[in-house]
Amino acid sequence: MALWVRSAVRALRLWGRGGEPTWARRHRIVGGGTPTACSAGVSSAFGNGGAGKEEKLCLRDIAELIGAQARQRVVVMAGAGISTASGIPDFRSPESGFYSTLQHWDVPYPEAIFELSFFLDNPRPFFTWAKNMFPGNFKPNVIHYFLRLLHDRGLLQRLYTQNIDGLERASGIPGSKLVEAHGSFASATCTACGKPSPEQDFWAAVMADRVPRCAACAGLVKPDVVFFGEALPERFFLHLVDFPTAELLLILGTSLKVEPFASLSEAVRSSVPRVFMNRKAVESLRPRSRDVVQLGDLVDSVERLVELLGWTEEMRDLVQRETSKLSRPDR
Ligand code: APR
Repeated sequence: MALWVRSAVRALRLWGRGGEPTWARRHRIVGGGTPTACSAGVSSAFGNGGAGKEEKLCLRDIAELIGAQARQRVVVMAGAGISTASGIPDFRSPESGFYSTLQHWDVPYPEAIFELSFFLDNPRPFFTWAKNMFPGNFKPNVIHYFLRLLHDRGLLQRLYTQNIDGLERASGIPGSKLVEAHGSFASATCTACGKPSPEQDFWAAVMADRVPRCAACAGLVKPDVVFFGEALPERFFLHLVDFPTAELLLILGTSLKVEPFASLSEAVRSSVPRVFMNRKAVESLRPRSRDVVQLGDLVDSVERLVELLGWTEEMRDLVQRETSKLSRPDR
């Protein structure tokens, strides 16, 4: 049997169409330290006819699933952990997370900075933080470009991100493939009269340490990021279609602490493999038999998956091309 047929058959059976192989009935903690291929080797349950040996569902199997995919059925959930390699701190990592730096800020507790009631009363702490987020201060990293490659290869059904840094768009992923569940800095609106505020006026005020005010009514202007207590954008409800039809879910760089985003991780069918890549395991990810948990540095984990996919060269070219585009002065 030709090699490609064997891996397609293996992938089809992995997907549960050919019946669940014995080894897929366990939740695997593969991670810790550098990413590994299947430590029990990749004599998959299909390779030796499932001779009863307990096999693991691991990164190499996921690479085969993605490689065998002709259709765009990969759904991704992303959090702040995909942007730390670009220089943007995440929120909850001890010592390095943004929330651990707020002891001397004028906030009652860290999350208050993103609460609407607090913002309307005292917007300065938020705008002090926002100043660091000026578009162009940061560039996409290999993780964003891996997700762009999934799109370029017609495999990305949708990328749900909690991040407001806009780096997914900056990597070239089209808005149609994106759900920015917590909004973004791409636009801003007056909290009093509801009029949109021109982006350049908003950033001119923020960068000059002024609180942005509406040109029409002098009301407080807020960027269109979703504060705690605010409704998520309508596009978030695309999940009602995307998750039930997904055939692979990648969950990257998130503590899965914030609802309703976190619950999306439970919204794929039980037969669908979920890959959780993060520095640490999180309790809110309830184990399933087809999970692959890859703990460790996200760049290492993604680069290992890219290598297993045989996309290393293509990835290098994409990163070079896009990075030089972004550093051109006319940008
Ligand atoms: N490699 C692997 N994991 C990483 C890396 C890295 N380089 N950097 C960070 N992480 C992991 C952290 O260990 C953490 O578990 O990414 C996760 C980020 O979690 P949070 O800081 O809680 O960020 P996120 O899950 O995106 O937060 C969700 O909370 O405050 C709100 O609105 C805010 O959108 C944000 C939401």
